[in-house]
Amino acid sequence: MSDLQNVAPELAAKIERLDALLDSIAARHADVKFASSLAAEDMLLTHAILSRGVKIGVFTLNTGRLHAETLGMLDRVRERYGYDIEQFHPQPAAVDEYAAAHGLNAFYESIDLRKRCCEIRKVEPLNRALAGVSAWVTGQRREQSVTRAELHEEEHDAARDIAKFNPLADWTEADVWAYLDAFDVPVNPLHARGYPSIGCEPCTRAIRPGEDSRAGRWWWESRDTKECGLHITTIPIAVSPESASA
Ligand code: ADX
Ligand code: SF4
Repeated sequence: MSDLQNVAPELAAKIERLDALLDSIAARHADVKFASSLAAEDMLLTHAILSRGVKIGVFTLNTGRLHAETLGMLDRVRERYGYDIEQFHPQPAAVDEYAAAHGLNAFYESIDLRKRCCEIRKVEPLNRALAGVSAWVTGQRREQSVTRAELHEEEHDAARDIAKFNPLADWTEADVWAYLDAFDVPVNPLHARGYPSIGCEPCTRAIRPGEDSRAGRWWWESRDTKECGLHITTIPIAVSPESASA
């Protein structure tokens, strides 16, 4: 159980529910992994998992195009929790082939070329990361995007035929930052420089005051194409609070 003495009651209730859900996921799945982008939501989950010794492995997709500040979070996690986050890299041959055929930064030219780059640098490594597991965990929240408005806490990842959990589905941005502050969790310094959402360096920029939190992601595309393919093909599963804490 997290130490909840200095936390507002509503947030404390959410944290208790989160801890119970993570414990229940680990109890139900011997082989479960958490995909961390090393951004704020994922540092929250990293803390909830590692500070409580929950048996969920943490990995990141090191696309080869991440900011130095993001990669620095691997060191912060090692210093704070004594844990080495597992890294999955893209296949060098696929990266070289794409660069030779289209150019290293061809993702600015078309949605197809952008999705192909995400396929090579994120989706294929994700498939390797999840090979053999029966469940995975993400830091997605409903509030983040129109494409996530219907997000469920528990889903079925139909493409891989495994369970998928989004334990922060109903958390607000304010909840996330209240948690990170309360437990003094290390966070990517880019957040303080106007990056609420952080992906690869060439595809992420700071937002202006009042802009949508994902406005800095693939900013040249329309809102409804802004997904990288990590989170498609899932079927929602209703989960009651009772079964989450069972
Ligand atoms: S994305 O689809 O637009 O890139 P976003 O950055 O919002 O996703 O992150 C949503 C969730 O996807 C994260 O909480 C995390 O679970 C997973 N994710 C995104 N990027 C990575 C990454 N580089 N490595 C591991 N997981 C990631
Ligand atoms: Fe490539 Fe940009 Fe997708 Fe990263 S976010 S994998 S650089 S297209």
